[in-house]
Amino acid sequence: MGGLITRRLRNDAAGLRDAAALLQSGALVAFGTETVYGLGGDATNADAVARIFTAKGRPHFNPLICHYPNADAAFADVVANDGARRLAARFWPGPLTMVLPRRPASAVALLAGAGLDSLAVRVPAGVQDLLAAVGRPVAAPSANRSGHISPTSADDVFAELDGRIAAVLDSGPCAVGVESTIVDLCGPTPTLLRPGGITREDLEAEIGPLSEPGDAIRAPGMLASHYAPNAPLRLNASAVRRDEALLAFGPPLPGATFVYQLSAAGDLTEAAANVFAGLRALDELVRSVGLAGIAAMVLPEHGLGVAINDRLRRAAAPR
Ligand code: TXA
Ligand code: MG
Repeated sequence: MGGLITRRLRNDAAGLRDAAALLQSGALVAFGTETVYGLGGDATNADAVARIFTAKGRPHFNPLICHYPNADAAFADVVANDGARRLAARFWPGPLTMVLPRRPASAVALLAGAGLDSLAVRVPAGVQDLLAAVGRPVAAPSANRSGHISPTSADDVFAELDGRIAAVLDSGPCAVGVESTIVDLCGPTPTLLRPGGITREDLEAEIGPLSEPGDAIRAPGMLASHYAPNAPLRLNASAVRRDEALLAFGPPLPGATFVYQLSAAGDLTEAAANVFAGLRALDELVRSVGLAGIAAMVLPEHGLGVAINDRLRRAAAPR
């Protein structure tokens, strides 16, 4: 069978050069950030941005996050306010995305922002060399097919997008494991649009109370069903059936045969780094062994647990 061959690039000088050149030419390249792997394209190239949606099989033009090597580059495309500057100084590079008013002079393609007046910008850790080499904002949603589990390794990206993108820059497994926290700073009070790698507690310590989004202004791409394995997923399980695989947090429920341990010690940072890999592994196990589904144990609803539970609820939502 013929078709596009997706190259695996090493995360060394030659690999970075190739990845940057491909992105500058309008090709799509997936790369690891500290959160998950992103499916990158030149944000100033409308054609490249359109192909991101095609490669993901995204039904709608949801707005994408633009990635930058540093805050100065990010704030060239959006108007920063005091809160934004404080958050940037404290958390960038890191798993935080800010939604801010887009500058009219910004070269970011309108399609990348889905035509909104605002733009989501982020300075991720671990990929600044690539972003600096590209020299343009890079639009990057998570590098999975629409609705699927987010990828946290290069192999995950190949499982999702092989033959649909030019290359994957393999920088190993992602350290944080859940997507960035998204804060909307356009209005009078900052609003938490998506829980993620930076906790609400950390943000509020820096800029004071965050408001919850009204339903209408929730991040437009945040569908109820998302991150979905093929297998049915049952949450907050207090017992596990013989025909279920168990997603464990701390000592596994008695009677479980197939267990993926998120964190034996009950550590939320470790659990976040493992949650998407765990869903992926158990999904494959359910399929190959012929089990009925996945049962997930209870995780505490504080700190990084908020982001993990958010992803698990979406993975379990009816489709
Ligand atoms: O950690 C991450 O943020 C990863 C890595 C690759 O950077 N990216 C990521 O992108 O999670 P994606 O496309 O899967 O999620 C982007 C979210 C969507 O829910 C989208 O609706 C929201 O960001 N978003 C983007 N621009 C926005 C805007 N102007 N206003 C409100 N929400 C926005
Ligand atoms: Mg995503």
